[in-house]
Amino acid sequence: MSTDSTRLLGRDDLESASALLEAGQLVAIPTETVYGLAADAESAEAVAGIFVAKGRPPSQPLIVHIRPEWVARYAAEWPEVGVRLADAFWPGPLTIVVPKSERVPAAVTGGLDSVGLRAPSHLVAVDLLDRFGRGLAAPSANRYGHVSPTTAQHVLDDLDGRIAAVIDAGASDVGVESTIVAIDEDGVSLLRRGAITIEQLTDAAGCPVEDRTRGPVRAPGMVFSHYAPAAPVTVVGAGELDNANLDSGVLVISAVPVRHDRSVILSGDEAFAAGLYDALRLGDDPEVTEVLVVPPESGDLLPAILDRLQRASHRQ
Ligand code: TXA
Ligand code: MG
Repeated sequence: MSTDSTRLLGRDDLESASALLEAGQLVAIPTETVYGLAADAESAEAVAGIFVAKGRPPSQPLIVHIRPEWVARYAAEWPEVGVRLADAFWPGPLTIVVPKSERVPAAVTGGLDSVGLRAPSHLVAVDLLDRFGRGLAAPSANRYGHVSPTTAQHVLDDLDGRIAAVIDAGASDVGVESTIVAIDEDGVSLLRRGAITIEQLTDAAGCPVEDRTRGPVRAPGMVFSHYAPAAPVTVVGAGELDNANLDSGVLVISAVPVRHDRSVILSGDEAFAAGLYDALRLGDDPEVTEVLVVPPESGDLLPAILDRLQRASHRQ
């Protein structure tokens, strides 16, 4: 599904965005976590285009973005614990995996009987969903395996000419993808770390939440090597930089101040998460030979940050 050039839409041009989606086209949309590449979630044909544009294997399921009140349309079961989690965290950066309804084409879920549902809080996403009136299937709007996009420019850098349009609404607030939980016969499990912590989930669920982020791959698509720029990424401690003689090709992304020209300082876990992907993308510059990252030491976003850095630094 390739288009000649990708239209850059303003946040006030949701009419055009909705019309393109209605016509089965792909539109990248801002969300509070990262930009998503959206298609009509009820159209297998439109959804198929997402995998082509991203270069993503069709076995990897997509998240369906909804308004909270549309749950019954897309979930075949919505247990009490789902109600509690949605009440606590929707709209917001939480994806809840539950059995899917017949309205969700197999193309969305990679053939699984379950579907990941998320009600985003970004006002542009909310407005667009209200206007479109149906769910939007959307993975992160990057080429498969690359760093997720947190600006419209990131989307264009990866997908210009491959999608119909991108809505520019500035930088995403959170900067890392949603927390994913699954509700099934085993109870509630954490599948991917994000801004909402396991402690917050446990409190709201009123039952234990099992950490399945480390075990065998439960969420297809949670492949190891991901979020990677062109230059190799290495995670280091602040102390390791003190004595290092840094070459000008080295990019340093750090939560603590460093003395080096090519560096991005992001202090505090929230600022670090919000700026991380933009900084990692600087590692695509051919002049950059290596990316060294000093993560923050604490904060609610730390587990999500360390998870993404582990994947970004994984050598294939
Ligand atoms: O914050 C986010 O979640 C962003 C924005 C755009 O909403 N989206 C996002 O999508 O990160 P994506 O495709 O990059 O990651 C979605 C992940 C999949 O890789 C898969 O691990 C998991 O969600 N997933 C989706 N449906 C699932 C299902 N039925 N069962 C298990 N995991 C599922
Ligand atoms: Mg992704």
